[in-house]
Amino acid sequence: MTLPDHFPSPDDFLWGVSTSAFQIEGALTAAGRQPSAWDAFPAFEGQDASVACDHYHRYREDVALMRSLGVGAYRFSVSWPRVLAGDLAFYDRLVDELLASDIAPVVTLYHWDTPLALEEAGGWLARDTAHRFADYAATVAERLADRVAMWIPINEPAMVTLLGYAIGQHAPGKTLLYDALPTAHHLNLAHGLAVQALRAAGARAVGTANNHTPAWPASPSDVEAAAAYSDLHNWLYADAQLAGRYPDSLADRLPIVDGDLAIASERLDFYGVNYYNPTRLRSPSEGNPLPFELVDIDEYPKTGFGWPVVPSGLSEMITSLRDRYVDLPPVYVTESGCSYPHSQDDTERIEYLDRHIEEALKADVRGYFVWSLMDNFEWDSGYSQRFGLVHVDYATQRRTPRASFEWYRDRIRR
Ligand code: NOJ
Repeated sequence: MTLPDHFPSPDDFLWGVSTSAFQIEGALTAAGRQPSAWDAFPAFEGQDASVACDHYHRYREDVALMRSLGVGAYRFSVSWPRVLAGDLAFYDRLVDELLASDIAPVVTLYHWDTPLALEEAGGWLARDTAHRFADYAATVAERLADRVAMWIPINEPAMVTLLGYAIGQHAPGKTLLYDALPTAHHLNLAHGLAVQALRAAGARAVGTANNHTPAWPASPSDVEAAAAYSDLHNWLYADAQLAGRYPDSLADRLPIVDGDLAIASERLDFYGVNYYNPTRLRSPSEGNPLPFELVDIDEYPKTGFGWPVVPSGLSEMITSLRDRYVDLPPVYVTESGCSYPHSQDDTERIEYLDRHIEEALKADVRGYFVWSLMDNFEWDSGYSQRFGLVHVDYATQRRTPRASFEWYRDRIRR
């Protein structure tokens, strides 16, 4: 199987869907896979990802679904713990199945499933993890570089630092607050080292996928609080990866070694934005150790997850990125989507996607990837949140395309 030489071409608008390994694959002990930091992390009602969507065994059916959807690209992640056990065969088969279906593989190398042994050795608090990640990136690239269209080393490093190490909502469940910041630097370093390893192995297009949120001050006197939050959520990663610098408010807390920022800011072929919602901030009340407080955004409708639906936030965010970085590479929306309880007509999801796609097109992006192809394991929320274009009945593993699936297929055809 081969990938057409011209791909990805700047003229193609890429319609896609996104997933991640841990959220859909299941088969956590297949072919000697080692445990990840997420395997035993507590989720909603004691749920776990040991079966998830059983995609490891049902990938052919899932690729067939994508083929009927008519997407040009599929963004998925490779499981680091599987590769450590020498299991790359699954991804070989998946990539070949995609190419045979005219779907370009877009590969994320790290979508949060840190091998448990590495986590126990410090995880992203340890600088050495960045080097282990570069070794892993080289292994995967040597195997797949000839057939993968676009590469993303790390998915949403901000969420790893904030949710995983600062407040403990995600694995590894640490509550270090500002002492979590070294992880941000190690993630940025790992990103850069992986970009180098990918290119050395002949990868075609290498980019990134950062979670972005417009930070809205609750009032004119909360501008500083919003800026402090934006430094933590948006610029700590984008500045390092795109401009080789850190926001002034945070630089002193990062374990930077000479040369690191040059590595972190290796040139990228594209920039991926994962967008869900804006965040509103106010100045902290007395006794709060943080320089901001989150405020509910209540004047917009909410998704089933309670997240405000603000389509204009997507173009607003991309505009701030273009203003901040003169040489911003071509932008892709690498994730956009919503969770709603299952309903027959699925109108809320359709409207959500319709309006976000409109904003993405306004912002002149090169592609749009819906999160997600199918319902899956939503981290600490387990199976309680349904983000899929396809409904999954977890008891039978039956996949049923929702109305939004038919809608997206028609939207792609247009
Ligand atoms: C972003 C993450 O990359 C993905 O794993 C998650 O499921 C979605 N957000 C929805 O929360």
